[in-house]
Amino acid sequence: MEKAVLRKLTLLSVICGVAGFVLLGLTAVRDGKREWKQYQAEYKELLLKKISRDRNPALYERIANMKPEIKQVVIDEWGAVDRCVTCHLGIEDQLFASAKQPFTAHPKPELLKHHPVEKYGCTICHGGQGLSTIYAGAAHKAVDHWPVPMVAKGLMQSRCGVCHKDFEAIGADMLIKGREIFKEMHCAGCHQIERQGGAVGPDLSAFADKDPGNFSYANLDKGSHSKQAWVIEHFRDPKKVSPGSPMRTYAMNDYQIECLASYVLSLSQRDFPRQYTPKVKADFAPHRVDVIVPETELSAAADHEKGIE
Ligand code: HEC
Ligand code: HEC
Ligand code: HEC
Ligand code: HEC
Repeated sequence: MEKAVLRKLTLLSVICGVAGFVLLGLTAVRDGKREWKQYQAEYKELLLKKISRDRNPALYERIANMKPEIKQVVIDEWGAVDRCVTCHLGIEDQLFASAKQPFTAHPKPELLKHHPVEKYGCTICHGGQGLSTIYAGAAHKAVDHWPVPMVAKGLMQSRCGVCHKDFEAIGADMLIKGREIFKEMHCAGCHQIERQGGAVGPDLSAFADKDPGNFSYANLDKGSHSKQAWVIEHFRDPKKVSPGSPMRTYAMNDYQIECLASYVLSLSQRDFPRQYTPKVKADFAPHRVDVIVPETELSAAADHEKGIE
């Protein structure tokens, strides 16, 4: 080969090498700036402030030497990998009861006692994207056209009902109320649940398991195109969301709509392994929802119950 060509090739490889190094460096810098790494650094500082170096030098050292790492809970039973605890680092620690987010201890520690984080993770109750390590990606905020956001506050009990069929046993007041409304509004006249009820509308026995992709979001107002949003808006105005629907608009306040939505979103046929299936009392029988009770004027009754006169 000619010397000139050889020189050019050498120069080229040197340039490529240098460029490679620069890129690598840039990635490293960006990596160090990742949201979750900053939360972990902040958490470490908070933790060190809570520990006396003199009284507990070994623990102090151990925390001081903590390296940033992705933390995750893997649940093979339903194929979840939940990395929420990568940021929600104080979730099980009452020392963090009044810390700011994302470090705050869980507001219901007794719930985590019954559903240990290492066995349940978070998304089985909260929804969202378990794998994500960024705030937006974990679906904290409703994103347009993204069908699986986190469960809204007022609908949290829908998730309890997926496993717990005895609502009374866990004090799921909104599910109890939602089931009550279902009966009082005669929804079973058109809908079946567990083979009880009419067949004018879709069977709702597995409504919770229905793919969000099966719904038409074309007529929703704005904001999230999620199944949760669909259900809420559909109850507010069925004919607007599903043109031609025989369902009428019921007079319900927001709380009643949340209760009813939580109830229908809890109707699931999912089978969990035994260790995830709550035991029920021997005499437990699922409530009938197709019993005929006189249809009541709901708003007034529920406002009264909630103390809003
Ligand atoms: C990148 C870090 C990060 C990850 C990963 C993350 N979160 Fe968060 N989360 C935050 C921050 C920061 C806040 C507080 C800001 C706010 O109130 O919205 C928060 C707030 C919350 C809240 C309270 C929201 C409210 O309205 O007060 C819940 C519930 C929550 N996260 C659940 C989850 C779940 C479930 C996951 C996993 C799917 C998750 N988070 C993953 C950073 C994170
Ligand atoms: C057994 C179901 C369940 C599990 C598992 C669970 N949570 Fe919760 N979480 C709840 C309920 C119920 C609430 C209370 C919501 C409400 O009514 O305000 C809650 C509240 C919260 C809040 C406060 C929300 C707010 O608005 O202030 C955060 C943050 C949170 N959970 C994060 C997590 C994280 C992170 C995990 C996993 C480590 C987790 N949760 C696991 C059921 C659960
Ligand atoms: C993945 C299924 C699953 C989900 C989702 C779930 N639980 Fe549980 N829960 C269980 C199992 C299993 C037990 C253990 C009960 C037993 O040993 O019989 C339990 C226990 C409990 C207990 C203790 C009392 C009892 O009956 O043993 C309470 C209270 C409870 N859950 C409330 C809730 C609430 C509230 C939610 C929703 C925020 C919820 N659970 C979501 C499966 C679940
Ligand atoms: C007159 C018959 C009728 C009554 C009464 C009725 N529905 Fe419907 N419902 C339908 C029909 C038909 C559809 C399908 C069209 C649509 O999306 O509105 C439907 C759709 C639904 C859906 C969406 C189901 C799916 O899989 O897409 C839900 C949830 C629902 N109804 C709940 C209720 C509840 C709760 C009540 C009582 C408050 C009720 N319905 C009363 C006929 C009825």
